[in-house]
Amino acid sequence: MNKVIQVISSRVSCRSYSDKKVPKGKLSQILEAGKFAPSGMNKQVCNILVIKSKSVLEKIRLALKEKFNRDCLYGAPHLCLVKGNENEPLLVQDASCILENMFVAATALKVDSCWINQLDELLKDPKYLKLRKRLGLAEEDRVVGSIVLGYRKEGVKIDVKARKEDFIKYL
Ligand SMILES: Cc1cc2nc3c(=O)[nH]c(=O)nc-3n(C[C@H](O)[C@H](O)[C@H](O)COP(=O)(O)O)c2cc1C
Repeated sequence: MNKVIQVISSRVSCRSYSDKKVPKGKLSQILEAGKFAPSGMNKQVCNILVIKSKSVLEKIRLALKEKFNRDCLYGAPHLCLVKGNENEPLLVQDASCILENMFVAATALKVDSCWINQLDELLKDPKYLKLRKRLGLAEEDRVVGSIVLGYRKEGVKIDVKARKEDFIKYL
């Protein structure tokens, strides 16, 4: 099988991370992969917010825990938010392409990842307006999705999920 397709087919979501950080060089390659995603009419309406600050990451983790009653970030050491103006009609599509590119790049570099969906709801809640401001989000910004990155805890085994038999149809 082609190497890229092999990587795509081996990607899995990881939900248990160790503290081990992803080396800078790998992190920047994953971000570059996100940057080179396609965008509707090449408008490039999204951007990536990398949470580098440990204290901000902790604030997000605690806010998520408060709202959703669990560790939505699975202990991962890195979090990136993919965001843009909510009035852009192709915002979700563009953000999804960016995120998928990042998942694939992470897999290629043997870095674990997972889509985190709760940031959107969290940051729409007026209770977390201070956090929204801390993240520098404009009023019209929407966090479409986020990605956690890191390395799975020792012993964690994740199998590629079986796909539905009728996933591909021909006409
Ligand atoms: C739009 C979208 C939202 C998701 N949100 C979450 C999430 O909030 N938390 C989570 O653990 N996984 C989330 N996932 C990951 C899915 O649960 C996962 O992709 C699915 O179970 C298939 O498993 P796989 O990624 O290992 O193939 C999301 C995936 C997508 C595409």
